[in-house]
Amino acid sequence: MTVDEKQAAHRIEQLRDEIRKHDLLYYDEAAPIISDREYDRLYKQLIDLETRFPDLVTPDSPTQRVGGKPLQAFEQVSHLIPMLSLDNTYSEEEVKNFYARIERLLPNEKIPVVIEPKVDGVAVSLIYDNGRLRQAATRGDGSVGDNITQNIRTIRSVPERLRDMAPKLLEVRGEVYMDRKGFEKLNQERKKQGLPLFANPRNAAAGSLKQLDPAIVSKRPLGAVFYGTGATKGVDVDLHAEIFPLLKKLGLPVTECWWLADSVEEILDAIHELDGIRHNFAYQTDGAVVKVNSFGQRERLGFTAKSPRWAIAYKYSAERVETRLNDIVIQVGRTGILTPVAVLEPVLVSGSTVGRATLHNEDEIKRKDIRIGDTVMIEKAGEVIPAVVEVVKSKRRRDAKPFDFAAHAHGKCPVCGGPIRRDPEFVAWRCENLHCPAQTTRRVEFFAARGALDIESVGGIVADKMVERGLVREPVDLFELKVEQLAKLNLGTDEAPRVFGEKNATKAIKAIERARTLPLSRWLFALAIPDVGKTTATQLARFHDSIEDVAHSQLLRDVLEYHEKEKNERAGIAERLIKAGFAKPSKSKADTDRSIVTEVGPVVAKSVVDFFASLAGKKILRRMKELGIQPKSEKVSAKKSAELPLAGKTFVLTGTLPSMTRGEAIEKIQALGGHVTGSVSKKTDYVLAGAEPGSKFDKAKELGVRILDEAAFQKMLLSS
Ligand code: IVH
Repeated sequence: MTVDEKQAAHRIEQLRDEIRKHDLLYYDEAAPIISDREYDRLYKQLIDLETRFPDLVTPDSPTQRVGGKPLQAFEQVSHLIPMLSLDNTYSEEEVKNFYARIERLLPNEKIPVVIEPKVDGVAVSLIYDNGRLRQAATRGDGSVGDNITQNIRTIRSVPERLRDMAPKLLEVRGEVYMDRKGFEKLNQERKKQGLPLFANPRNAAAGSLKQLDPAIVSKRPLGAVFYGTGATKGVDVDLHAEIFPLLKKLGLPVTECWWLADSVEEILDAIHELDGIRHNFAYQTDGAVVKVNSFGQRERLGFTAKSPRWAIAYKYSAERVETRLNDIVIQVGRTGILTPVAVLEPVLVSGSTVGRATLHNEDEIKRKDIRIGDTVMIEKAGEVIPAVVEVVKSKRRRDAKPFDFAAHAHGKCPVCGGPIRRDPEFVAWRCENLHCPAQTTRRVEFFAARGALDIESVGGIVADKMVERGLVREPVDLFELKVEQLAKLNLGTDEAPRVFGEKNATKAIKAIERARTLPLSRWLFALAIPDVGKTTATQLARFHDSIEDVAHSQLLRDVLEYHEKEKNERAGIAERLIKAGFAKPSKSKADTDRSIVTEVGPVVAKSVVDFFASLAGKKILRRMKELGIQPKSEKVSAKKSAELPLAGKTFVLTGTLPSMTRGEAIEKIQALGGHVTGSVSKKTDYVLAGAEPGSKFDKAKELGVRILDEAAFQKMLLSS
């Protein structure tokens, strides 16, 4: 080290310590002692020095919170101790039963319990090794989750290093949330940019943590609350009540409010008290968690198949708020259904401002006797779209106006003026014009939505304007758009134009191109086939090779035929479906019946078959073919998964592979039935090692686990 370097190293350490101290004061204790400006100045000094001396940059520097590179995919990592969930209840009676049950199981003992907020965020588990953040993961399936360490590092209230006497090992559990104000602001910005809005703070937090690029996450106002531990070494506590002060002392954010109780009455009092104050917290809460305080008693109570006997989550019912219904308008959905929507005097419900609520359909308005000008009670629970529950009749004004759906619509679609018809099967009115721009827009939005093709830039106003200006007539048209065309798209009005711009257009086209490579399940969902939700789409994709294969599926035809046939004629079809893994023998019926339970039922089967037989369905198949879009299937039938060449084999990845990204390698292993985990143990079958492998490589050697380089791995893939 030169003298210069030595001085820089010293100053860098000083700055880091100082910044960490201010982070703590700001985020943890809400008691900053310097101005934002002063803080920014320190931060900039550190950045400048680190830029001049890049060798001195360390991963735990405060500047590295946003420093990670975008990932191709999240690595799968194991939790040291599985993350379990809790039994939920909405009834106080069940809370009483819960306490009575544990009293029965531990007779003649005092059983103090802790009552604490149930934070409505995204469950995470962090591992601190000797006080340093080593790994952060999502819950995943409880045993293995996504490695989101880079993203968690961007959250300033989560310390990179623990304070005080850090234990040797601390696996700590909590929830990541987005604070209410930050959520509102983020949605406002997204609205301006024409991006789809997040339904609530929890979705916004989940969406943020799913980002592969930590630079994006760092701009999202996320926080965390911790409430428990997983594996630990050097932590000496016997009571849950000791966890809060311990975590706090280590610099981890915890809830400020919790209660100790040892009778049902006290438990219910605490639950009510929490309900009265929880709306003032920065994070959203949807209930109270009741946990046995003593770890010794917990151990004796044990677990049921999926949750501990020593805890229960009581969920508060949805919040209801009164407001004025100012008007009723009609919205056209993607299948042409006309939905009456209440325009409300904006009110804050469950953490977000609600200005509109669905009225479902004409009959609902009549049944509830909803009139324009009424005072109504609205309700919003979790992700559910706000709904009008009832009219507060005592506050009805004399001039409240009844709403006549048909008269209001004048027999025409309010958007395209096309003919409307009342669907005899449902209670809904429907616009019959397939080219109705409102329907097209909704279809494009659905196609591009999260969970479908995830084309973030094509939502809201962008979808509106693409359709309005004739750039897109149906969702697949997106794949023919050119950057130049899209850049010129006017999102404003003719008088006050506001173009989409080259940069946004390039980004959007890139996202559209990426969608080509998404798997079959996503495409099946995106096509908005009636009755095909995400789960069904995944099931269909597991049993079919391609979209054509779904369109002409013998399995689905068999399901239909099975349900149409008389009992005594079913045996052959049942046999075929069972053999294909698409059905299981029904347990409840006598075996002679050959009763089966199929992966999808006859309603879905009919809907899918009808969709691909329709003109619209045929057209989409043709267009996809012309555009060269061939989504790959995740076909791993229930029966076949055990027969895949790498079934039951566990892989661990370390180092950089010469020609494959980590994500690609994981996909390849999983496609052949293998598993990828984060750490090497005796149970690991192979360690796939690239350049500069980490400690996993040494561990593999130590345990005698087989180590593959990329060439050997490729060979293995070829021979599989
Ligand atoms: S304790 C084995 N405490 O709610 C028990 N969970 O439905 C582990 N949650 O899986 C959970 N706030 O994701 C616990 N104060 C709290 C919580 C909490 C939110 C989440 C957590 C859990 C789910 C249970």
